[in-house]
Amino acid sequence: MNHENQISDAIERVLLDEDAIAARVSRLAAEISEAYAGVEYGQDGLVLVGVLKGAFVFLADLARQLAVPHHVDFIALSSYNRSTSSGEVRLIMDSRINVADRHVLIVEDIVDTGHTLDYLQRTFQARNPASLRSCVFLSKPARREVPVSIDYLGFEIPDVWVVGYGLDFADRYRTLPFIGALKEKIYKS
Ligand code: PRP
Repeated sequence: MNHENQISDAIERVLLDEDAIAARVSRLAAEISEAYAGVEYGQDGLVLVGVLKGAFVFLADLARQLAVPHHVDFIALSSYNRSTSSGEVRLIMDSRINVADRHVLIVEDIVDTGHTLDYLQRTFQARNPASLRSCVFLSKPARREVPVSIDYLGFEIPDVWVVGYGLDFADRYRTLPFIGALKEKIYKS
């Protein structure tokens, strides 16, 4: 099967197409630019911290539309055991920029149970930033186990397995340009 057929065989339906995503990301970038207006590069500047791997697409689109100067950094995390939803988060690669006294904006692709964002918020708060906010592309409120605050949200979605725009299933489908719901036969096989 060629790549195109593999994709249409795996995707049940498109939840958010490229135009819907682009329009929402532009609005978020405008909102964030307004909120951080006046912030400059440097020791008290704005640092976007993208959470690998999922956030790389969203962060790239968002950052390129920001009208304020900012630094970009990444952190890589993984859940210890997703199937038991233990909530334990493992740090694979820490961010490099010292965020003390800087404005930190955590950029996530999705908040599901909330354990990852909760871990990030506790971790970065302990590093004494000037401010700490979060920008999340998708949220599945039906799955929440820990309450977390999201300052800038793209979309709320139902509890379906979504892929594309950075989100994966077994590291596949991450670079689809849209958000698609995965067919049950794929994640149950
Ligand atoms: C996903 C996503 C979030 C986290 C959200 O990451 O990117 O970081 O899960 O889930 P939670 O709210 O239940 O904690 P994943 O562990 O799949 O890694 P990936 O981004 O490398 O695909």
